[in-house]
Amino acid sequence: MNKKELLYEGKAKKLYATEDPDLLIAEFKDDLTAFNAQKKGSESGKGALNCQISSRLYELLEKNGIKTHLIKTLDENHQLVKKVEIIPIEVVVRNTATGSLSKRLGIKEALKLPFTLVEFYLKDDDLNDPIICEEHCLILNLVKDKETLHLLKERAKKINSVLKEFFSQRGLDLIDFKVEFGIDKEGEIVLSDEISPDSCRFWDMDTGEKMDKDRFRQNLGNVKVAYEEVLKRVLEEK
Ligand code: TMP
Ligand code: ASP
Repeated sequence: MNKKELLYEGKAKKLYATEDPDLLIAEFKDDLTAFNAQKKGSESGKGALNCQISSRLYELLEKNGIKTHLIKTLDENHQLVKKVEIIPIEVVVRNTATGSLSKRLGIKEALKLPFTLVEFYLKDDDLNDPIICEEHCLILNLVKDKETLHLLKERAKKINSVLKEFFSQRGLDLIDFKVEFGIDKEGEIVLSDEISPDSCRFWDMDTGEKMDKDRFRQNLGNVKVAYEEVLKRVLEEK
């Protein structure tokens, strides 16, 4: 399968057409952005690390009954994926309070939440991805009905339970993460985009060290070292 024309370029990935109209090639970029791209950087090899991490996690999720857009990993920074229509909702799952949750509501940093929290954010850079409620999703026609929102929440929670267990076996505490879903040509909702240290927070269970994009957001240094360590642990057989 060969890359044809560039169809879309986002902050972390490029999407190319292929000979098959139903399939795309996703290329993971080395660019790093934060705060809606107000902060920009780049880390050589970051794209390849995220591609490999995301591929392994999507294979794990598929094995656990979660349908994803991933067809095949082509090389270290390219995946062959199903063409889907992205639902413009960023679904954020939180186990522990930090980031915008702590900032917005004053919840103590690092507090374990009494239950898994699922939030919806509007995927719209011009509006700075605002948090939205179910009614907003319906008013904006982001999904066809309330049942679809329920399905997104349940799917996100299932992904969380699989990933939380997987990372905990590898000494990483899954704090929170963001996922995106798409609708394929059969009308099925499938997990799309990526799951990587760009879109998750992981804290080392022994040292408490941050092993994700917060290293870039908060100028903690050693961004690539942390991503390499996450890949190493993700590839460990248990
Ligand atoms: P937040 O605490 O900044 O809202 O982030 C929650 C989670 O979502 C965290 O794991 C980082 C991830 N995330 C993204 O993947 N993309 C984004 O644009 C934002 C704001 C957060
Ligand atoms: N992904 C967003 C951005 O690039 C925000 C973030 O991850 O902090 O700007």
